[in-house]
Amino acid sequence: MHQDPGFEPHILSSIIDGVILVSPKGTILHANLATEEMLRQSLEAFRGRPVTEFFPGQPEVEAKLHDTCTRGTSFRDIECRVHPRAGETPLPVSLTLTPYQPLAETIQGAVLLLRDRSLVQELEETSRQLDQISRLGVLSLGIAHEIKNPLVAISGSAQLLRSRLNDPDHRECLDVVIKEVNRINRMVERMLGLANQRPPDFKPINIHRVLEEIILLEKQSAGGSYHYIQQYDPSLPAIPGDEDQLKQVFLNLLRNAREAMPGGGAIRVSTRFRSEYSIKTRQHPSPHQDIVVEIQDEGVGISDQHLRTLFTPFHTTKPKGSGLGLPISLKIVEDHHGKIKVLSREGEGTRVQVFLPLEQESP
Ligand SMILES: Nc1ncnc2c1ncn2[C@@H]1O[C@H](COP(=O)(O)OP(=O)(O)O)[C@@H](O)[C@H]1O
Ligand SMILES: [Mg+2]
Repeated sequence: MHQDPGFEPHILSSIIDGVILVSPKGTILHANLATEEMLRQSLEAFRGRPVTEFFPGQPEVEAKLHDTCTRGTSFRDIECRVHPRAGETPLPVSLTLTPYQPLAETIQGAVLLLRDRSLVQELEETSRQLDQISRLGVLSLGIAHEIKNPLVAISGSAQLLRSRLNDPDHRECLDVVIKEVNRINRMVERMLGLANQRPPDFKPINIHRVLEEIILLEKQSAGGSYHYIQQYDPSLPAIPGDEDQLKQVFLNLLRNAREAMPGGGAIRVSTRFRSEYSIKTRQHPSPHQDIVVEIQDEGVGISDQHLRTLFTPFHTTKPKGSGLGLPISLKIVEDHHGKIKVLSREGEGTRVQVFLPLEQESP
C-alpha cells in the first residue's frame, strides 16, 4: 500500500469531480484540476480562502463542514450550488464531506467532493418537458379527431348559408363564424402535428441556406422595421437533418423574436461550432460534436418564472398565440438528437440556441 499521506496530484487530476482539501478552519489547502475548472480559476487564486465563500447563502454547508472538522461526521450527496467567480452562473453540485484523518489520528480538516449536476438537471428538465408534450400528444390526438369532423360540417354549412344571404350584416356575422372556425381548425391541425410528428428524414443539409430562405420569407412578411444581422461560420459542414422540419423550427423562432419586438428592431442570427465550456480534463477537451444556431432579439424578454414553463404546450402570452411553436420546435430538435437552450432577461431580449449534432448515429 502506498503510505504517503500527502495529496496525490496525478490521480486527483484525472478525477472529473472536484476534490478539495480544507484545513480544520475551512480554508482551502489543495484542490484538483476539476475544481479549478468548476470555479473558473486557478488554485493559486483561491488557495487559503475559506471554502464556504464558494457556497454563499447556504449556511447548511457551513454547519455541516463544521461538524465534519470537529466531530468527524461524514455527509453524502448534499444538493447545493457552488458559485464560481462573481458574475458567473452558479453550478448545481452534489457535495460529499468527509473528515481528513491521514494517519487515522486527529482530524486535520476535511475533504470535499463536488459532483457537477448541471448535465443531469438539464436532462431531467428536458425529459420532463418531453413527457408533457408526449402526454399531450396522446390526449390531443383523441380530441383533435373528434373536433375536426364537426368543424368541417360547420364550416361547410356556414359557407353555403353565406352564399344564400343577401343582407350584408348577416353575411358579416357568418364571416366571423367562418373565420373563427378556420382558426380552430388550424389549431387542431397543429395539435395533430404535434402528436403525429413523423421521424426526421435525414439528408445532408446546408444550414446556412435553410436560414437564408427562412429569413427571406420572414422579411417579406415582416416589413421594413426589422433588420436581420447574419453572422455565419463559413467553415460549418453540412449536417444531417430534415429540411422541412428544421425550417419549421427556425421559422417559429424567428417569428417569436419578431413578435417580442412589436416596434421593430434587430434580430441576430448566427452559427458556430459549439465551444461551450464543459467539465472534462483539460488535456482532452471534447471534440466539436454540435453546431449552434443562435437567434437573438432585443425584445421584451422572458421572466425567470415563465422560462420554466416556456415549452409547456398552450402556454402563450399572445392574444392570438397558440403556445405550440416552442413545444413543436423542441420535439423536432429532440428528434434530431439536439437541444434548445433559452437565455433571457425581462426587458433585455432573448437568445435562443439550437444545438444540432454534426452526425447522427446510424439506426
Ligand atoms: N423571443 C422571445 N421573446 C420573448 N418571449 C418569447 C420569445 N419566444 C417565446 N416567448 C414566449 O413563449 C411563449 C410561447 O411561445 P410559442 O410556443 O412559440 O407560442 P406562441 O408564439 O404562439 O405564443 C410566447 O407566448 C412568449 O410569451
Ligand atoms: Mg411562436
